[in-house]
Amino acid sequence: MVFSGMPSNHIVGTDQIISGIDADSRRSLTISSPGKLNVFLEVPGKRQDGYHELETVMLRTNLADQLSVRSNITGALSLTFSDATTEAMRSGVPLDGRNLILKAAEAIRLRLNAPFGAEFILHKRIPPESGLGGGSGNAAAALILCRQLWNAPLSDADLHEIAASLGSDINFLLSGHRAAVCRGRGEVIESISVSRRLHFVAFRPRKGNSTADVFRATSLRGELRSSADIVRNLADSNSGQLASLIFNRLTEVASKLNPEMATLMARLQHIARRPVFMSGSGSTVFVVADNVQDAAGLLLKVRGSLKICGWVLKC
Ligand code: C5P
Repeated sequence: MVFSGMPSNHIVGTDQIISGIDADSRRSLTISSPGKLNVFLEVPGKRQDGYHELETVMLRTNLADQLSVRSNITGALSLTFSDATTEAMRSGVPLDGRNLILKAAEAIRLRLNAPFGAEFILHKRIPPESGLGGGSGNAAAALILCRQLWNAPLSDADLHEIAASLGSDINFLLSGHRAAVCRGRGEVIESISVSRRLHFVAFRPRKGNSTADVFRATSLRGELRSSADIVRNLADSNSGQLASLIFNRLTEVASKLNPEMATLMARLQHIARRPVFMSGSGSTVFVVADNVQDAAGLLLKVRGSLKICGWVLKC
């Protein structure tokens, strides 16, 4: 497969992997698996391959899962949750071959044509079907861990090629960039600079959104927006107008598919007295905070009023 343009990629450094030896003398590796927040998402068109063309600005978040792996000499691939992963985080996350972690490991095995085994343990903190890139980040983490665990002779470009074949957001989370404009299906990434610390407060309704359903219901009409203004704003250390530039083309259709999310957006806007946005295909919605104190205060206020889960996201 020829891999389409990939300006300025680099992989999350292997120095971020924590290496250890288990009680039964097996090598274990652990890596943080961060998620993303979309602060801009336009859909310029539909592609021949059935996917949609994207122009999206993604920010890497401090909210992260953690993925560990150790080798398995029987050649089996397995995935379990950490004991500390809550019931809410487990719900709807398959532990079989449908999970992107096992798909990523399998894709590397196929490339190497070698029967390597691996046991993964996932500590999940990023809610599933939330538009925060939990599953995509897990796939990126699995690619990095498998390359290391199996001493696989794969270049960074090889990992990016596998990532692109598995899903749309994986390349960004594999790249280790703090922020990027992502085009194509989302896999063509261009690093951008962010000159200040950004704080958001995010909330997820009980019901998640299916990315495929949201894209399927999206109709392409209206004037296309460009990410240029928000990219400029992020690079400017003094600018405070970020909220006025945040945009997500999928919000309207996702609100129709998930009325609970639409209600949450309205309530949040009323309580927080500021605009509310959706990340990716949802169902996580978020507001911009002025600083970490503002974010923490807002989180407490909304949790108290609406009794829902929320997170302060630092990007
Ligand atoms: O890439 P990912 O697996 O997250 O996408 C899930 C589904 O969302 C795809 O199967 C496709 O139906 C839809 N999608 C799309 N255009 C994109 C990304 C996703 O139509 N750029």
